[in-house]
Amino acid sequence: MSLNDRDALAVLHAVIDPADGNGLIGRFYARWFSFEASPRDLFPPDMAAQRATFAHALNWVYGELVDQRAEEPVAFLAQLGRDHRKYGVLPEHYDTLRQALYTTLRDEVAEAWTDAVGAAAEQSLNLITGVMRGAAEAELSPAWWDGTVVEHLRVSRDLAVVRLQLDQPMPYHPGQYVNVAVPQCPRRWRYLTPAIPSDDTGAVEFHVRAVSGGLVSNAIVNETQSDDRWRLSNPHGGLHVDRDGGDVLMVAGSTGLAPLRSIIMDLTRWGENPRVHLFFGGRYPCELYDLPTLWQVAANNPWLSVTPVSERNGDPAWAADYPDVTPPRGLHLRQTGKLMDVVTRYGGWGDRQILISGGPEMVRVTKAALMAKGAPPERIQHDPLYR
Ligand SMILES: Cc1cc2nc3c(=O)[nH]c(=O)nc-3n(C[C@H](O)[C@H](O)[C@H](O)COP(=O)(O)OP(=O)(O)OC[C@H]3O[C@@H](n4cnc5c(N)ncnc54)[C@H](O)[C@@H]3O)c2cc1C
Ligand code: HEM
Repeated sequence: MSLNDRDALAVLHAVIDPADGNGLIGRFYARWFSFEASPRDLFPPDMAAQRATFAHALNWVYGELVDQRAEEPVAFLAQLGRDHRKYGVLPEHYDTLRQALYTTLRDEVAEAWTDAVGAAAEQSLNLITGVMRGAAEAELSPAWWDGTVVEHLRVSRDLAVVRLQLDQPMPYHPGQYVNVAVPQCPRRWRYLTPAIPSDDTGAVEFHVRAVSGGLVSNAIVNETQSDDRWRLSNPHGGLHVDRDGGDVLMVAGSTGLAPLRSIIMDLTRWGENPRVHLFFGGRYPCELYDLPTLWQVAANNPWLSVTPVSERNGDPAWAADYPDVTPPRGLHLRQTGKLMDVVTRYGGWGDRQILISGGPEMVRVTKAALMAKGAPPERIQHDPLYR
């Protein structure tokens, strides 16, 4: 059985550079699209990010096969296959992909290609494509959920709240994120996180921040119109609060608030909960766009406290164009500084369940600062930092 031939698998693993420094993946895609043109139309025009993602995934799968660990890669590939349904992948695409990848690997391995390596390539590619295709065919849930934009609120210069009515309700756990494609940027899927728990009537809300130079986020914030049709897919992620797991610290940077807000809203279903302390941060006070809602929730739920944090003490001139978010009397005063500094000023939070959500840099530095203060890493949760 060639999948037990670790040496042969190692030859294949060695030529799949996770950073695709040898251009193998580029050559594979070119060959695949020359065999069959239709898969090319499923990808966005620029495939640089996809080449890197594919190289990374393939390298990881082959590394696991070399180490004779099948369980995790099979689970990963099955999930990938189910998720790939939303791209419009057809069963025959797997056949042409397998042929193109086999031939590209054979060319790359060159003189080191033996019958044993050929057999390992054939069986591993059968496994990869077979698991993805089989899981996709066996999945009964919808491949995607379409919905119509019913509200687009520009809550600050770079921030928008977008509400949609889905054609049918989408089940997800509070705190999970989904893949989204918007009409302004076809085929460019991005992860966004519902800011409310799954709703039986199909209502869903997203909070989006336009990142500098970002294609899709700027299109959403600046160009979304009522009646736009969005496509959503694949709830993922495991951010959660264990209601029996002790008190909770939540740290949200900008629209990183979305999953934490969804979890908090879900917790309001119970009268008694662990204490939850939420730090919500932005650059300017005016960017703390959701404070009125958070304060309303806190006013009715004594287990929740909210500390607003802004890096700058005052607002820029453009703030006048957007809603005022000055705090009502009697609630936590706004703190000034970087989130990680303000949060750790209160202590190490080592006894808490800790949930951090925001841009990749903010999550990384906040996590490091909390760990430096003694917070155990196993008590800290955050989403993957990149897709
Ligand atoms: C699990 C998860 C959940 C997410 N949920 C949300 C959400 O609810 N709301 C939301 O607004 N965004 C969310 N994002 C980020 C979102 O998916 C996009 O990455 C982001 O909107 C940028 O896409 P873009 O097309 O505008 O940028 P691209 O055109 O893909 O990238 C342009 C530039 O922006 C940089 N960049 C990409 N993402 C970020 C980022 N998050 N912060 C800073 N710089 C970045 C890139 O490195 C690149 O230099 C989430 C990301 C992940 C991984
Ligand atoms: C049947 C053939 C396949 C087709 C048509 C296909 C198509 C696509 C498309 C259109 C995307 C989205 C690209 C983007 O958003 O920029 C994608 C993403 C991705 N593909 Fe494939 N793919 C196929 C098989 C595979 C296989 C065999 C693997 C790896 C073993 C793989 C791994 C990935 C990964 C890791 C991503 C990024 C994560 C995601 O968006 O789901 N694909 N693929």
